[in-house]
Formats: sequence, C-alpha cells, structure tokens
Amino acid sequence: MIQVWDRLVRLLHWALVASIATAWLSTLDLGIGWAHERSGYVAAAAVSIRLMWGWAGRRYARFAQFVHRPSVVMDYSRQLWRHVEPRHIGHNPLGGWMVVALLTCVGGTAFTGWLQTTDRYWGSEPLEIIHTWMAWGLLGLIALHLVGVVFTSLRHRENLALAMITGRKAAPHGDDVA
Ligand code: HEM
Ligand code: HEM
Repeated sequence: MIQVWDRLVRLLHWALVASIATAWLSTLDLGIGWAHERSGYVAAAAVSIRLMWGWAGRRYARFAQFVHRPSVVMDYSRQLWRHVEPRHIGHNPLGGWMVVALLTCVGGTAFTGWLQTTDRYWGSEPLEIIHTWMAWGLLGLIALHLVGVVFTSLRHRENLALAMITGRKAAPHGDDVA
C-alpha cells in the first residue's frame, strides 16, 4: 500500500461533504435555517484552502498532477469505452476535471449566496435564482461524482471511498499510471 491522499486533502474532502450536506439540509423545514450561511462559508473556506494546496501541496494533491489536456481526457474516455483504461493512482483524467467542476460549483454557489447578504444585492431575485440553480447543479455533479467513484471502485476492485478515509491505495503495478 502507498500513501496517496494526504491528511489535508482528506480533511477538506470530508469537510466539504459535511458542510454541503448541512447547507442543503438547512434549506428544508428542519429548524436549522441558521446553519445555512455558516455551513456555506465553511464550504467556501475548504475550497479556498484546497485551491492553494493544489499548487503548494503534495504530489497527488497538485492540479498539475491530475488536470490534463482535452486530448488526454479523450484518450482516456476511449479506453474507458473499450474497457481497457489503466488504473490511476491519483485522480484519473475524467475524475480530475470532475474535481475542478466540483470545486468551481461549490465556490460559485457560496459566492452567489454571500452576494445576497451584501447591500448591493440584498433581495436580488436573479441572484436568488442563480444561487438556487447552482446548488441544484452542484447536486447533479455530486451524483455524477458518486457514480464515477463507485464505477471506478468496481472496475479496479478497490474501495476508493475507503482510500479517501485512510489515504492509502494499493501500490502501482502493471500498466497503472502513477
Ligand atoms: C458534498 C459531496 C461531495 C463533494 C463536494 C465532493 C468533492 C470531492 C472533491 C473536490 C474531490 C477531490 C479531492 C481532492 O483532490 O482534494 C473528491 C474526491 C473523491 N471523493 Fe468526493 N465529494 C463529495 C462526496 C463524496 C462521497 C459521499 C464520497 C464517498 C462515497 C466521495 C468519495 C470520493 C473519492 C473516493 C474521491 C477520490 C476519487 C479518486 O480516487 O480519484 N465523495 N470529492
Ligand atoms: C455552498 C453551499 C450552499 C448551498 C448548497 C446552498 C443552497 C441553497 C439552496 C438550495 C437555496 C434555495 C432554498 C429555497 O429555495 O428554499 C439557497 C438559498 C439561499 N442561500 Fe444558499 N447555499 C449555499 C451557500 C450559501 C451561502 C454561503 C450563503 C450566504 C452567506 C447563502 C445564502 C442563501 C440565501 C440568502 C438564500 C435565500 C434565497 C431564497 O430566498 O431562496 N447560501 N441556498
């Protein structure tokens, strides 16, 4: 086994999961409406720290390690289609762009939420609509993210969710991309 996801990546990941779940749940009639803005700010903080870590962090945390050119993503998609895609120790090329999409959408949702608390955009209906749609878009991305995690776990017979808890994955072998 090798260490892939460092402590900060894991902490930020589960902080994002908890804060976004709370932000969503607080829009329901559960009496926790007070938690909406706070949990949204926690999510925004997690995204900001993750962005910095994407440049300054360890090998598998760096964007340069997993954000690839479109041609690489297309090649990987074709391999996926033919069931011959290699196992990636870090994020695979499709997963890499999913990370970018998730972080952007969380950031955008929190930003448009915060804008509504400013004097300028207080009670702005268009912003309310954009914020709500971004929150739904985020939910869609999360669903795709989970499909990707389950699919890849099954394909390579490896519990990726557990790896996001322990940080460890099986050492590379054969055609694996390290
Ligand atoms: C609010 C919901 C979620 C969001 C916003 C989210 C976001 C993210 C982000 C940003 C990453 C990239 C990690 C990094 O490099 O920093 C990631 C990776 C990952 N997430 Fe999530 N996640 C969510 C829910 C979950 C859940 C519920 C699970 C467990 C079933 C999960 C499992 C994983 C795994 C296994 C990876 C690593 C994927 C890989 O091996 O390439 N995520 N997620
Ligand atoms: C990133 C996590 C966030 C998610 C997933 C999220 C999600 C949502 C959703 C789904 C709604 C619509 C609720 C409804 O129509 O009943 C909403 C409304 C709202 N959110 Fe957020 N939000 C987030 C962050 C924030 C932040 C950081 C703020 C402000 C600091 C904020 C402020 C608001 C406000 C003022 C509304 C009311 C708009 C309305 O009346 O519908 N949100 N949010």
